[in-house]
Formats: sequence, structure tokens, C-alpha cells
Amino acid sequence: MSYLFVNANRSAGTINKNIYGQFSEHLGRCIYGGLYVGEDSPIPNKNGLRTDVVDALKAIRVPVLRWPGGCFADTYHWQDGIGPKEQRKTIVNTNWGGVTEDNSFGTHEFMELCGQLGCEAYFSGNVGSGTVQEFSDWVEYCNMGGVSPMADLRRKNGREQPWNVKFWGVGNEAWGCGGSMRPEYYADLCRQYATYLRTYAPDQKMVKIASGANSDDYNWTKTVMERAGGWVDAVSLHYYTLPHDDWQHKGSALDFTRAEYYTTLRKALRMDELVENHSRILRQYQGSRTVGLIVDEWGTWYDVEPGTNPGFLYQQNTMRDALVAAVSLNIFNNHCDTVCMANIAQMVNVLQAMILTEGERMVLTPTYHVFALYKDHQNARQLESYVGAALVGEGEEQVPDLHVSASQGADGAILITAANLDDAAPRTVHVVLEGAKAGAVTARVLSGAANAANDFDHPGRVAPRALAVTPTAEGFDAVLPACAVAAFRVEP
Ligand code: AHR
Repeated sequence: MSYLFVNANRSAGTINKNIYGQFSEHLGRCIYGGLYVGEDSPIPNKNGLRTDVVDALKAIRVPVLRWPGGCFADTYHWQDGIGPKEQRKTIVNTNWGGVTEDNSFGTHEFMELCGQLGCEAYFSGNVGSGTVQEFSDWVEYCNMGGVSPMADLRRKNGREQPWNVKFWGVGNEAWGCGGSMRPEYYADLCRQYATYLRTYAPDQKMVKIASGANSDDYNWTKTVMERAGGWVDAVSLHYYTLPHDDWQHKGSALDFTRAEYYTTLRKALRMDELVENHSRILRQYQGSRTVGLIVDEWGTWYDVEPGTNPGFLYQQNTMRDALVAAVSLNIFNNHCDTVCMANIAQMVNVLQAMILTEGERMVLTPTYHVFALYKDHQNARQLESYVGAALVGEGEEQVPDLHVSASQGADGAILITAANLDDAAPRTVHVVLEGAKAGAVTARVLSGAANAANDFDHPGRVAPRALAVTPTAEGFDAVLPACAVAAFRVEP
């Protein structure tokens, strides 16, 4: 029996709903084919956007969506993606497969997607190969309500009202595909770009996001904060979970050993230390204002599925990915005092996707189901939680068997999300609630073999089901199956 304590009297703050954000890049079949098929497609769509995919994403309440990259962002010239489609320039996607894109999905189409999803837009601007003028024109195009060259151009292209886009990324991975810059140089550029990202109405809000570190590059965060921290509202962090550090042989998404399963989870759990350390640097240099941490790329990265384009980063998704999602989201929830947004990479058909598509067919991944189980954490009050975990694993690859986070919604209901990382044995958890009375408890669980996946012929192999709970004087008991993610809803 493992004890799981939730203390309703203690909280680190509100869990920003944007922690449940997503990322959609012009990469492989994420945008084209996955989200956007065009109005003339036989695949059911609304204004070119796949109805099946949009409906599924609406059900998990996506709060914010980052676009157009990724590495693509620093090659993207937004003016090529507006106006009559037949007149748009093409672009060669030099980062991802060298394919030629017709720019039929641009600013208006992306804002249509955000409108259909009911989410906010997060634009990643081109610093690596663009200009300050180009970037500031994009903001004016999106956010200027009055008369101006860019606002007039937007109106000419069919959009009267400004969109009031709030989140603007000043480049992406400036240390790598975004310009191979040194942090000192990027910090200066960041200040320059940020200076010309203006608001166009007194009540307009803008969040300027500096391109942040890769993994544990603390010097990057420190230098950028020291020199440019006063010009931005948040700094990003990218961290991917690879079973093996060799980028040529990262490991298979489906065919992995027990040791690789535990290595993957151990590496995913590193997010805790990274968030802690980068947050400490932000606090050290932020002065009297708060600079938030935005983990705007995270998730698993495996070798592509055999026979698929190596540049398209298409990978399957198993219960192992569900556990990576569960522990990562628990970590973000528990660091809600600094993590103000996170964006899993990526939404459809790329890396740790929510959804895979093949022609007109669509399948929801185990990761999608974790986002569904966790969605009521959005904007809820984080509650302190603690689990008496034991180590489990294979050889040196040891991880805590249980991992948890908890929150209380405005209606008083408590959501506890807990993962059992043990791939072979169930765990009985004795949940103790402090500072709150347990009303009725309902629970759902996602579980299966570590390599269990949904595919187009078996779309329901991994899906949440009801989990039995037994009320106790202090809370309730439940048995978490091996390799499982559970969500308990405790009524007030
Ligand atoms: O998500 C795939 C790529 O990973 C992004 O384009 C880049 O920012 C990161 O290296």
C-alpha cells in the first residue's frame, strides 16, 4: 500500500491553463494533411480544416497553439502566406524534408484554426533570417484596429477586426536552427526586436517570449536574462526525451526493451530539475517584475516509423508516451508558480502527437487521452501533493513508481492525477485528503502494456475506462494497474 497525501490548505498557485498548450509546425504532415486539407478536399472540413481533428482537439480544450515553428519559423516570411492563394509564393521547407509548400496555410488560416479550437495564438517570429521591420509589421497586421498600412492590408485580405494576438516568440532556438547565435549576440537582438513589438490599443496585452535554452544550458538562460530580461515577459525552454542520446539512433517508438522504457521515463523526469534550475535563474535576474518560464517544446523524440520520410518526424505513440505526458504535466502543475505555458511537440502526425492521420482516417493517441484526463487542472488551484514512492526499474534505470499532482477547481472539486510507472505490477494507493472533505469520487484510468498503441485498425486499444475506488475515513483507496495514468475527481 502506498500513501498519497493531498493538502487542500497548501498551494503553489493557479495552474495556468496554457500549460496544456500545443505546438503545430510546418513539418511533415502536421499542418498539411493533419490539420489543413483545403476547402476542396473530399475529407470533411470547415474552411479547409479537418472537422474530425478539430472536434477531437476541442474535446481536450486546447488553450493556446504555437505556430509556425520550430525551426521553420526562422525561414518563414509571413507576407508570403497572405492574400489570394493562387498568388502566394511557394517556400522550400529546408529544415524538414526539403518539400515545397504552397503557403496555402498562412496567418488567416492559422487564426481560423485558433477560432475553431477556441484557443489563443502564439506566433513564433522570424529573427534568424527576417528583419525587425518584417516582424513588427506582422504584429501590426494582426493587432492594429485603426488605419495603417498593415491593418489596411489585413482588411483587403478579408479580416476587418484585429485578432489581438498576445503571445509573440522572438525567434526559435536562436542557438541552433534559429541562427547559430551566441547568447550575448541573441540577447542584444532580442532587445532590438522586442523594442519594436508594439501594442496598438491601451487594453491590448502582449507577452514577449525570448528564445530560450536547450535542456540544461543554464548559461544561455543566465546571459539572456542578465542582458535582455527587462525586455521580455517570458523565456522559453526546449527539452525532448530521447531513449538514446545518439540522434542517428534515438530508439524506436514501438519496439523497445524494458530498460529503454525506464530510461525514457528517467529522462522525462529530468524535466523537474530543468524547470527548477531555469526558474531559479529567472527569479535571480527578473528584478521587480515576473519573467515566466515557457516550455514551448517538450515530448518524446524517437526514430521515425520505418518507411516514412526521415524529415517528417512521424512516430507512433504508446503507453510509454502516456506516462511521459503524465509526469511532465504533473511537473508543470507543481511548478505553476513559474511555468506559465508549455507546448507539447506536436499536435498532429509529428513527434509526440495527440492525433495521427492517414488520408481520411484519424486515431487518438494515448497522449491525447492523458490530456483529456488532465484537462480540469486548467486554471485550477494547485494543491500540494505527496506520494510515498518506491524506486522501480531495470538495472541502473530506476524511477519512482508513483507520480502525482492535484488541484482544486472553482467548483470545489479536487482533481488528482497519478501515474504508476511500474510496467509490471499494480499499486494500491491510500489517498489521504487534508483540509477538504471527500464527497463522491469518480475515477478514470488509462493503462496497458508499455508498448500498447492505437492504430488505424485498432483505434480503441488504449482508451480510458472507469476505475473503482473505495471510500475511507481519510479519503479513498484505489488500485492503479501497472503502467497506468489515473484521474480522480473528488466532489466537494
Ligand atoms: O519540434 C521539432 C523541432 O525541434 C523544432 O522545429 C525545433 O525547434 C526543435 O529542434
